[in-house]
Order: sequence, then C-alpha cells, then structure tokens
Amino acid sequence: MNMIDYIIGLSGLVASGLFIYGLKGMSSPVTAVRGIVIAGWGMAFVVVASFLQVFTLSPEAQAHLPVNLGLAVLALLLGGVWAGWRGRTVAMTAMPQMVALFNGMGGGSAAAISAVALMRHDTTDPLHLGVTVLGGLIGCISLTGSLIAWAKLDGRMKNPIRFPGQQIFNLLVFVTALGLGALTVMTQGQDAPDPHLFTLLFFLASLFFGLCMTVPIGGADMPVVISLYNAFTGLAVGLEGYVMADPALMIAGMVVGSAGTLLTVLMAKAMNRSIANVLFSNFGATSAKAAGPQGTMKSVDPADAAATMRYASSVIIIPGYGLAVAQAQQKLYEFVKMLQADGVDVKFAIHPVAGRMPGHMNVLLAEAGVPYDMIYDMDDINDSFKTTDVALVIGANDVVNPSARTDKSSPIYGMPILNADQAKQVFVIKRGQGTGYSGVQNPLFFLPNTTMVFGDAQAVLGKMVEALKALGTN
Ligand code: TAP
Repeated sequence: MNMIDYIIGLSGLVASGLFIYGLKGMSSPVTAVRGIVIAGWGMAFVVVASFLQVFTLSPEAQAHLPVNLGLAVLALLLGGVWAGWRGRTVAMTAMPQMVALFNGMGGGSAAAISAVALMRHDTTDPLHLGVTVLGGLIGCISLTGSLIAWAKLDGRMKNPIRFPGQQIFNLLVFVTALGLGALTVMTQGQDAPDPHLFTLLFFLASLFFGLCMTVPIGGADMPVVISLYNAFTGLAVGLEGYVMADPALMIAGMVVGSAGTLLTVLMAKAMNRSIANVLFSNFGATSAKAAGPQGTMKSVDPADAAATMRYASSVIIIPGYGLAVAQAQQKLYEFVKMLQADGVDVKFAIHPVAGRMPGHMNVLLAEAGVPYDMIYDMDDINDSFKTTDVALVIGANDVVNPSARTDKSSPIYGMPILNADQAKQVFVIKRGQGTGYSGVQNPLFFLPNTTMVFGDAQAVLGKMVEALKALGTN
C-alpha cells in the first residue's frame, strides 16, 4: 500500500472527524465561522480523495468506470462557482431561501444516487434495494418540498394551496409512492414487467408527494419546514452512503440528519408548536387577519427616546426581524457604545425565533462586532426586565407579544416571549402599525409604559446617534 492509498483509505475517517468537529464549532457564535470552514475543508478533502482514487486506477479500470469524469468535474466547477458567488452576494434576509435551495440540491443528489443504483440493477438484495428506495423517497420529498419552501420564502408563491380532502389526497399519493417503491424492489432483476417503468413512476410519485406535502403549509412555518427537510436530506444521504458503502457519506448524512432533527424540535418548541401542528394545522390561514387596534399608541421622536435612554441606568435591547430588514445593526452598535460611554448598562436579549432563521439575530450582532458577553438568551434575561429602566424593541413584534402569555384565542398563545412589557419604560422602533410574522396585533404597543418611535430602524437609530452627539457625554 503506498502513501496515496493510505490517504484515500483514511479520507472518510478524516472527513467525518472534520464534519463533527465543524458542527461542534457551529454551536456557538464565537466558533461558528471556524466550524463552517472546518466542515468545508472536510468536504473538500473527501472530494479530492475521491478523484485521487479514480486517478490511481489502471487506464483499463478507468475506462470502465460508471462515472463520466468530465461531467463530474464540470458539475463541480459549475456548482462550486455558482454557490461561491451566491454565498458571497446573498442578503442576510434572503438566507432562509438560499438554505432551502441548497438543501433541496442535497436531497436531489441523494435521490439521483438512488435512481442510478436502481437503474443499473447494482444488486437484487432486498435489504440493499429497500434502503436505496427509502433514500430515494426521502431525497425526492426533500427536493420538491425544499423548492416549494424556496418559492414561498422568496415571495414567488404567495398563498398556500389548500382544498377540501387534501390530507386524504396527500396520504393516497404517499401510499402510491410507497407501493411503487415496493414494486421497484420486487421487480429488480426481472425482465418483465419493465422494472424501469416502476422505478420511474416511483420517483415521479415521490417528487409529487414532496410538492403536495408542502404547498398547504403557510409561509410563516417555512423555516421550521426547511429544517425538517434538512433532516430528511441528511437521512437520505446517510441511506445512500450505505448503498454506496461510503462511510464518509453515511456519517455526513447522520450528522446532518440529527442536527436537522434537533433544530426542528428546538424551533417548534420555541414557537410552542408540535411538528405535526406545523405540518398539518394550516397555521396562518386565520391569523393573517389582525384584530383592530386596541387603544391608542403613543409616539415620541427619536431624539427624545435617545435622551431618556442616556439618563437611564439600564437598557435591554430586543432585536427582531425589522433590524435585519433595515440592516441597522452597525448603527445600533454605534448607539449602544455611546450609551455605554455615558455609563448605561446595556444588554441584548435574543429570542430563539427572532428574525427568520435560527441564530438570525446572533449573526447580525456578530456582524456589527457586538461582544458576546452583552448578548443573553431568553431564559437567562427574562427575569431582569422587571428591574430594567428601558426595554428598546427594534423591529421585533411577535417575540414580545404578551398575548402569547394571556390570550388563549391567539395563534401564538403559549409561545414563550421576552418580557419586555415588564420594563419600566418600553420604546418600540418600527415603521408603522404593521403586524409581525404571525399576523396578529400586539397589545404591548398600547400599554401605558410603551412609546412607539416610528420609522425605519436605520433612520431612527441614525437620529438617535445624532441626538446623543448633540447632548455630549455625561
Ligand atoms: P416579526 O414578528 O416578524 O415582526 C417584525 C416587525 O419588524 C414588524 O412588525 C415590522 O413592523 C417591523 N419592521 C419591518 N421592517 C422594519 C424596518 N425596516 N424598520 C423597523 N421595523 C421594521 O419579528 P420577530 O419579533 O423577530 O418575530 C419572528 C417571527 O418569525 C416569529 O413569529 C417567529 O415564530 C417567526 N419565525 C421565526 C423563525 C426563526 S427560526 N427565526 C422561524 C419560523 C418562524 P412595521 O411593518 O410596522 O415596520
């Protein structure tokens, strides 16, 4: 065995180690970027090792490879260049749809491996075939489901498609896909009936099921759905890793599958919903109609709000989706540093589902250079609001909606929220009277201790910074 053989032999193990180590790094904002780079190196390493393996084969063996090397290199180049370009240029607010698209590609790849294995009649072993078909089914669901999720998040598909008896129809499609999968397994290796026909129908039914399963789900639930499809993709890849006897693929699939499952469970928990409720409840169908105003909103101009905060001793800032829309994180941190210079104790409170993707607010604040020790998770800070002078809510709505605590008829009832309403004074920066993601009105805005500061977060924070400059330091 020469050196290259050793490298190839160990590549799966090394790559798996890098994937797991990288994923561990992604669990904290401090090490997340490093974690992503490490996992990326794991992927690059295993791709290079795969090509090395091919090039070390004899010319005769190379000629009989079931792979078109030219096409493989072309696909890698096209995919790599496109993904690299999109990764650099995508707006932070468009991240969820990009994740959906990439995830769909992963599911599609797993399904493609399954299709090739079935079309080539690699084996007639029922277990092997069953795993191949299962991986294909899950990969197809993930592909079309993620594409629908992408279309919804990107605003290309505005309304959920729902019709009477839809769940029974979906069940029938699913059972048909399963039946065709079983027929595919049973007819492998036989000449008649044409096994390719069942394989083709099986893939079409599976792709159709992914579509049917996703079209009725409202846009509000798409991030959870993507996370679920991410788990599906991981599972499909893991199963196809078994089919190809490739340990790196198996481990990568298992890592992605379990991470996706945990994330789905965490997100559903943070919204106080079950996964079945996300998939089958048609959430958002009724909640889109917000109840009318419940009193009057007081408002103040940014300069007065800034002056109040400057003379406060403690301020807790609650960022939300609007901060991401306004891309006001840099301005916010500039404002915070000025408050700190004046001796104000400033903390950030992060709700687990603030924004539109997991860790959205952490990423924004990290981008602005906010130190991690100023950032608190909901459970760690929620008791502090009662003793805090000012809660400054910026572009957040649902995550500070007190009806989640009290109003049993509210679609967000039971969702844990940040207790901003308990602060002595609450300022809310938002553009107007728009509702949040869930489409429900927020009684916080009408409380006696709440004052609105209307305007785009970037513009308002700019004026607040100017106001503090005009006041000078204490
Ligand atoms: P939202 O409830 O969506 O509220 C965002 C608010 O920002 C809106 O009320 C909007 O009011 C305001 N806004 C928009 N653009 C703005 C701008 N340029 N400047 C100032 N304000 C602006 O946000 P949230 O409180 O972060 O809650 C997140 C929601 O998303 C939750 O319902 C959560 O369940 C859901 N969700 C999140 C996730 C993840 S993983 N994060 C996943 C699934 C669902 P105006 O239009 O009046 O400005």
